[in-house]
Amino acid sequence: MSAPVPQSASRILFDNGEHKCLVFSSLVKGDEGVQTNQFLIVHKGHAAVIDPGGDLTYTPLTIELTKYINLQDLDYVIASHQDPDVIASMPRWLMHTRATIVASKLWARFLPHLASPFVTSMLNKDFSERLLELPDKGANIPLGDAILKAVPAHFLHSVGNFQFYDPVSRILFSGDMGASMTEDAHLPVTDFQAHIPAMRGFHRRYMCSRRVTQLWAGVVREMDVDMIVPQHGRPFQGKVMVNNFLDWISALDCGIDLLTEADYRWP
Ligand SMILES: [Fe+2]
Ligand SMILES: [Fe+2]
Repeated sequence: MSAPVPQSASRILFDNGEHKCLVFSSLVKGDEGVQTNQFLIVHKGHAAVIDPGGDLTYTPLTIELTKYINLQDLDYVIASHQDPDVIASMPRWLMHTRATIVASKLWARFLPHLASPFVTSMLNKDFSERLLELPDKGANIPLGDAILKAVPAHFLHSVGNFQFYDPVSRILFSGDMGASMTEDAHLPVTDFQAHIPAMRGFHRRYMCSRRVTQLWAGVVREMDVDMIVPQHGRPFQGKVMVNNFLDWISALDCGIDLLTEADYRWP
């Protein structure tokens, strides 16, 4: 078993006194599972968690969250897509908080499969009343007097895929886009070229095609993004590093770009 990397459980990405963004990078330890980042946005007594993960992270994450918020004040649990490391803990949030689950409308019919009949019977409301379904074109999600923008990222990685842009901090929470496999997940990337090997294999397989990564990069270039923060690995901070990543991903063949008849041979 590899030793846990010593680091604090949370890191403040942004804090202007009334608006705070935090990342939790070290809740999955050793060889338990792939390293993941979970995010908390707090705004004037309102709060949202982005990509909370599964059972593996639920308990340590809630322990960390209670240092910053009352769990009963949590407005949203937001999922960029449907993967287990993103939202498999949904039943626990439904049971133990009043939060609304936010996800693509394409996953709304599938997410109830994560919850047992016991969980759904314990809810005060019908499951659908606890779910905010995002339309394909995205949405502005109100968080007190602020908003979070659900930005379309379809087919980058999932058929119904969103990223979440916080206009106050100018952080784009990018889900699996920009992910890296590294032990230094709490540190922003400082040497882009040296960081490429930690990203390359993942993006070649887990992103769908260059056609959509280029469309996505084009939109992000039009946005005022100070930081791209992925759900695995290290963030990209500042205009230069954000542009380095957009240039790199726009030129990378990935997913179906790389497939040939040889990949579909009878085993
Ligand atoms: Fe994923
Ligand atoms: Fe992921």
